[in-house]
Amino acid sequence: MLTLTSPLEMQFPSVIRFGEGTIGTLADWIAQKGYKAPFVVADAVNVARMELLGLKNATCFGDVVPEPDIPNLNKAVEAATGCDVVIGFGGGSAMDLAKLVAVLVWQDCEFKDISGPGRALGRKVGLVQIPTTAGTGSEVGTRALVTNPESNSKVATESVHMLADLAIIDPAMTMTVPAMVTAATGVDAMAHCVEAFTSKRSHPIIDNYALQGIELVGKYLKRAVDDGSDKEARAGLALAAFYGGVCLGPVNTTSGHAISYPLGTRYKLAHGIANALIFPHTLAANAPAAPEKTAQICAALGFSGVTTPEVLAGAKAFCESLGLDMRLRAYGVSEDDLASMAAEAHDIRRLLDWNPVDLSVADIESMYRQAY
Ligand SMILES: NC(=O)c1ccc[n+]([C@@H]2O[C@H](COP(=O)([O-])OP(=O)(O)OC[C@H]3O[C@@H](n4cnc5c(N)ncnc54)[C@H](O)[C@@H]3O)[C@@H](O)[C@H]2O)c1
Ligand SMILES: [Fe+2]
Repeated sequence: MLTLTSPLEMQFPSVIRFGEGTIGTLADWIAQKGYKAPFVVADAVNVARMELLGLKNATCFGDVVPEPDIPNLNKAVEAATGCDVVIGFGGGSAMDLAKLVAVLVWQDCEFKDISGPGRALGRKVGLVQIPTTAGTGSEVGTRALVTNPESNSKVATESVHMLADLAIIDPAMTMTVPAMVTAATGVDAMAHCVEAFTSKRSHPIIDNYALQGIELVGKYLKRAVDDGSDKEARAGLALAAFYGGVCLGPVNTTSGHAISYPLGTRYKLAHGIANALIFPHTLAANAPAAPEKTAQICAALGFSGVTTPEVLAGAKAFCESLGLDMRLRAYGVSEDDLASMAAEAHDIRRLLDWNPVDLSVADIESMYRQAY
């Protein structure tokens, strides 16, 4: 874990607008910047309410699929020809594709030329991000995740050019998110904060965002799941997701995300559900290496946890209180796959190398078996 004297760089979108009604400021910003050909990247839910953006002359790719893959991205890039500003309007899936579209359009290259860290070298169009779920925090970050259908793995691409010029976080956009998506995306936001907080490269600056994000999820997630019209809870979660996004930048996630990825790529489980299923197991496994921080996490989520069994039981009960079935078997996962999933997760060194405990393939397989 890093200390106050450790160097750290943080990057944010040039402008961040937070709060109810901020969506109404988009059209003026576009006009002030002189953009003439806005291009919206949206999922099916958001393409149906494009009028909220107040743009008269926008074109749109409205076919973003959850957990998008490279063919989905390629279609979006093709549709973007001629635009001068890209607007991601949706959850993490739409915003991640918007980032990649923005660095690929007008450029003589394709995804394989820019995937990975620091390979997208420029951007010739503007970029705006408008989250409509409270989860990924993708609106404030430099990273995008798409699935390579050939290798069945999530490819992380990262570039400062994928950082938005403007992020509009209007909690009103999330009021329509169904209860189960609210639960899943809220757990994702919390997992970003928890994993950054306990990472080997956690940093005091980021710890503050992380802990506040976890507290917001502890206070508001169940409220928003139980009553989607609770405006205060929706705003609290939008803020938690933003803080989670801040954590992702310089610190990023560790074992929780790595071990949940095979559930998304193989079984198409929603990113947040996959995170929830794994969360209690990694929190408990990491507890001995970060006892004080684990106790703070448990307290922020509303239960007391000191010993490993207490942490496991408390975290599981927290997720179950959101209505989530916490058994892998309930999502069609095959027991025969657990060993190869463990090997696949163990290979995600970009995340696992920062986990406070060194987890072997056998440790990971045993977590899957316990969760089964
Ligand atoms: N860039 C990052 O740093 C980062 C971080 C975490 C996750 N991700 C990625 O983000 C993706 C997941 O994003 P997500 O969890 O936001 O889910 P999502 O974007 O896939 O959306 C989930 C579902 O909710 C619907 N939806 C979105 N907004 C809605 C609204 N306001 N009302 C009703 N329905 C709505 C969508 O149509 C979709 O069916 C994954 O691909 C994941 O890998 C990226
Ligand atoms: Fe995530």
